[in-house]
Amino acid sequence: MNPADVHLDVQLGRLRLVNPIMVASGTFGYAREMAGLVDMDRLGGILPKTITFDPRPGNPPPRTIETASGMLNSIGLDNDGIESFIERQLPYLASLGTAIVVSVAGRSEQEFIRMAARLDGLPGVAALELNISCPNVTGGVDFGTDPAMCQRLVAGIRHTCSLPVLAKLTPNVTDISQIARAAEAGGADAISLINTCLGMAVDWRRRRPILGNVLGGLSGPAIKPIALGAVYRVARAVGVPLVGTGGIASIDDVMEFLVAGATAVQIGTANFYHPTVSMQILDALPAALGELGATCVADVVGTIGSG
Ligand SMILES: Cc1cc2nc3c(=O)[nH]c(=O)nc-3n(C[C@H](O)[C@H](O)[C@H](O)COP(=O)(O)O)c2cc1C
Repeated sequence: MNPADVHLDVQLGRLRLVNPIMVASGTFGYAREMAGLVDMDRLGGILPKTITFDPRPGNPPPRTIETASGMLNSIGLDNDGIESFIERQLPYLASLGTAIVVSVAGRSEQEFIRMAARLDGLPGVAALELNISCPNVTGGVDFGTDPAMCQRLVAGIRHTCSLPVLAKLTPNVTDISQIARAAEAGGADAISLINTCLGMAVDWRRRRPILGNVLGGLSGPAIKPIALGAVYRVARAVGVPLVGTGGIASIDDVMEFLVAGATAVQIGTANFYHPTVSMQILDALPAALGELGATCVADVVGTIGSG
């Protein structure tokens, strides 16, 4: 297969991406920070840092710490609120030639819906990702751990807003497939998984937690097997497309997620230590798909056999 003949575009429900490589919320700022390093127009999509209705200062420092094979963060959705986002960040994001999937988090169903209604129809907003999975704030994660609340929230947003909706799930549940089925029943166009895994770091000499908020979310290479397992299981439970996230840092990682059942991927923590990783992955993607005899991304999605 000639790599030039491989089609990279993918469909996430009503959202079409020119390729399956996106960057994950909270790891790419509002994109401006990465200009000069990354050719934004080549990306399949950008997820800016999650926004909330009101500005939030986030959690007390320290808020990040390196671990043996990843990082722990307890940022706590530090952001300037939706109106500041629309005024200060969206014009730049809208000028980029890629899909902007705005990540939103509400403290209540009403707040989620108010945010979705406000963003609906604004130039440059291609879709919403519902962050119902941040381990570092109280409240919002309930929508990602209770199937009935999850379904009602997604349905409520579908009812009031015409944008495609992605639901981003947490791995910090007993059965992620159950939550995924609820998101699908509510009308989600696609399901993103996973957000970070709850963890902590300890300074034993001081007998203290290291993070100011005590607990944080683990990300990076350490969580890739957890994310792959989640994608594999959820792919067997729902019919909607999946977006795989967790420890992706190379073309091999991307191919593993696609074969396991993801239609697209998001690169997160790797952006911090290898800012051009998404470009290298895009360079390598057509040949990797061609190696499996694929003419398009869909040809490999979920094609994994049994052990
Ligand atoms: C510093 C940091 C901040 C994050 N902030 C957000 C956020 O605002 N919203 C969100 O949905 N996910 C957030 N995440 C989670 C990532 O988007 C991603 O789901 C997770 O880190 C797993 O992917 P990775 O291992 O490739 O980083 C954050 C992750 C990190 C490391």
